[in-house]
Amino acid sequence: MAIRQVVQVGDEVLRQKCFPVEKFDEKLWQLLDDMKQTVRFEKGAGLAAPQVGILRRAVICDVEEGCFEFINPRFLQQSGEQSDVEGCLSVKGKHGTVSRPFKVKIAYQDRFGKEHTLAAKGFFARCICHELDHLDGILYIDRAVNVEKD
Ligand code: NI
Repeated sequence: MAIRQVVQVGDEVLRQKCFPVEKFDEKLWQLLDDMKQTVRFEKGAGLAAPQVGILRRAVICDVEEGCFEFINPRFLQQSGEQSDVEGCLSVKGKHGTVSRPFKVKIAYQDRFGKEHTLAAKGFFARCICHELDHLDGILYIDRAVNVEKD
């Protein structure tokens, strides 16, 4: 495992639409393991593959409920609303208030390609929304009502 460098805002890689993961091989597992180590090292709640320069649809959410890997995730349902402060490992030294759904349901694949669904609410749902946005080149600063320095 290795800690990977987190790409910072201004880098075009953060603005691309990511490609689906098609190979569930050792290269993917290495990426996921590295992303997990990186998000913990950086004390983040989540990390998306484009943040380490890989344009594939894979994210990590490291929250109270556990440390999750979502490959090729997509929304099945979104409901309710919550508004709270977010930050991003790719936008260092800033935070901003973002409105998100309170509950989400997603479908995704695990590291072996097996399909699953998952329901989340509160902070976990917020984390999922934030990370899935990264896969389409969207940053929280695009949605925030205000962005301030920490
Ligand atoms: Ni982020």
